[in-house]
Amino acid sequence: MSIESIQTLARDEMAAVDVLIRAELHSDVMLINQISEHIIVAGGKRLRPMLTALAARAAGYRGQDHTALAAIIEFIHTATLLHDDVVDESDLRRGRKTANALWGNAPSVLVGDFLYSRAFQLMVGLDSMAIQKRLADTTNRIAEGEVLQLLHVHNPDTDEAAYLNVIERKTAALFSAATGLAAHLAGADSTACAAMDDYGLHLGMAFQIADDVLDYVGDAEALGKNLGDDLAEGKATLPLIHAMGLAEASVRERLRLIIATGDATAMPEVLAAIASSDSLRYCTDKAHFHADAAKAALHALPESAWKKALLDLADYSVARSH
Ligand code: IPE
Ligand code: IPE
Ligand code: MG
Ligand code: MG
Repeated sequence: MSIESIQTLARDEMAAVDVLIRAELHSDVMLINQISEHIIVAGGKRLRPMLTALAARAAGYRGQDHTALAAIIEFIHTATLLHDDVVDESDLRRGRKTANALWGNAPSVLVGDFLYSRAFQLMVGLDSMAIQKRLADTTNRIAEGEVLQLLHVHNPDTDEAAYLNVIERKTAALFSAATGLAAHLAGADSTACAAMDDYGLHLGMAFQIADDVLDYVGDAEALGKNLGDDLAEGKATLPLIHAMGLAEASVRERLRLIIATGDATAMPEVLAAIASSDSLRYCTDKAHFHADAAKAALHALPESAWKKALLDLADYSVARSH
């Protein structure tokens, strides 16, 4: 299935999610409306809420609570983006100037807090302690991932294990909650819930590894984000970590210095090192490994168009250009 046909399949579900998101953005504090609308109405792929909707239907759910769950997941995601762009000093997101570039850091952080807390208000409405617990744990884990990542900034000794630990927390944990909780809503048994957890977790790993590749070789226009943000920030992601491991001593020393100083002007040198180590191939293979693991987790799920969409989204997470 193409991404367009998957979107068509999920059209009614996603329209309901969008209505709820817009309804829940309101505040009588104008700046909150301005900033939250700026980032949310600008779009984004809505991949996580779409996964929630598809996973709920694939698991046989017939109710409507997955709409709220999907909106909550997107609110949490959007809050992390507002905070992430402050931390990363990024100035382009979803094809628009970031909130921090337009309004400054303080308003972005505070409106991120608003979105987090709105997500928690919505969550209470679902009246399920199990869902509240999972989302509380997940949000906490994302925060740990972002702090852990911060500790590695400008650290040339960041290795693949440290990198994988960071992305599992900052990205894959939310994907896993998005799909695992959908199965939970559907009343699936613990084995089926665990399988949906695994699907989301592996898809999230694949998605972030692909994102880190795109930060080097993507198309900024398609991505709606600037390239090179990771390097400029001194953040060693998998392409660079892998290249450093294989580079000859003199090049490795250069790369270490570039990470330590966050030297964005060294991008051509870094790209050359990445090319001569075939690091993008390594990263893409790794992303495919996780996409395959995501698909394998769904083996026991009954066949349906929803399941097919989930399987194809695993491949899309790696092959995407934005
Ligand atoms: C961006 O996520 C943050 C990462 C985990 C790489 P998305 O690429 O899903 O962002 P939007 O929601 O489509 O803008
Ligand atoms: C993803 O990390 C951010 C979160 C999951 C919070 P990135 O820093 O790679 O995301 P982009 O590239 O800014 O979207
Ligand atoms: Mg970022
Ligand atoms: Mg990125």
